[in-house]
Amino acid sequence: MISTSAPGKIILFGEHAVVYNRPALAAPLSGLRATASIEEATTTGAGLTIRAVDLDTTIRLQESAEHGLALMARLVLDRLGAAEPTITVTVESAIPIAGGLGSGAAVSAALGKALSAHLGAPLDAPALSELVYEFVRFYHGTPSFIDNTVISYEKPVYFVRGRPPEVFSLGMPVQLLVADTGIPSPTHEAVGGVRARWQHERDRYEALFDRIAGIVDTARTVLEAGAVGQLGPLMTANQHELEAMGVSSPAIGRLVTAARSAGSLGAKLSGGGVGGNVIALVTAESADQVRAGLLAAGAVAVYQTTIGEG
Ligand code: PMV
Repeated sequence: MISTSAPGKIILFGEHAVVYNRPALAAPLSGLRATASIEEATTTGAGLTIRAVDLDTTIRLQESAEHGLALMARLVLDRLGAAEPTITVTVESAIPIAGGLGSGAAVSAALGKALSAHLGAPLDAPALSELVYEFVRFYHGTPSFIDNTVISYEKPVYFVRGRPPEVFSLGMPVQLLVADTGIPSPTHEAVGGVRARWQHERDRYEALFDRIAGIVDTARTVLEAGAVGQLGPLMTANQHELEAMGVSSPAIGRLVTAARSAGSLGAKLSGGGVGGNVIALVTAESADQVRAGLLAAGAVAVYQTTIGEG
């Protein structure tokens, strides 16, 4: 049986400022993945069926014009010039849905990998990334290339709008905790809020974005050099700028403070903010204590991940 997987993603540095053409860094969540597995269907000619376990939905390609996963399957078949096989693909994800962690993109990537492997022509990262982009666009209109690139290449990415994303390697593994505030965070609302404030106070916001761009560029150098000791203060500095931008919240602030008090070397919101997730830099020694601190401060879930492994 063919079984494939793809990771979720987090934004490490530069969210929001990236909308205003400054750089951002994102990384795969290797320990939090979506999987796809394929079984030959028993009925001949039944075509392709996708069982989306988390959505509690079964999609038959011949009937479902409108579902994003059907679109993804069709994109793969078109790319490979293949006829629709009679199989069942089961997709499942450990990545929380709608938390800014790339769950949809990861499910579509796992599906694309499994289907192309079944057809004997596994898609490489650039091809997969292009198709996942089309999937994300189906839902989000004009997405950045961050999710599809990070999730398909499974590598950290340095990203500036309008330029090809740059995949890079870390000089050492970095351990993070991802803590969920439990508060839904519709990214477009947070982005809209920043835009409204930027229109009133352009100079202040442009200066904030410039400072964040400086943090992002320094962070890339630090990550590539493996100077993990310098990373925490950069995360904290980025969080301060995000607070000044008005995208933090009391819940995020509580988790950031709790992580720091429990021994995290740096913590910040990740993604759209307002609710959503906080990331905290930890070591093997501090991870358990920081996790306990985050849960005590109201995190509804805490995931551990290591970026830059392997
Ligand atoms: O919520 P996420 O993880 O998809 O991140 C959004 C990042 C923003 O910079 C706030 C928006 C964007 O389109 O880049």
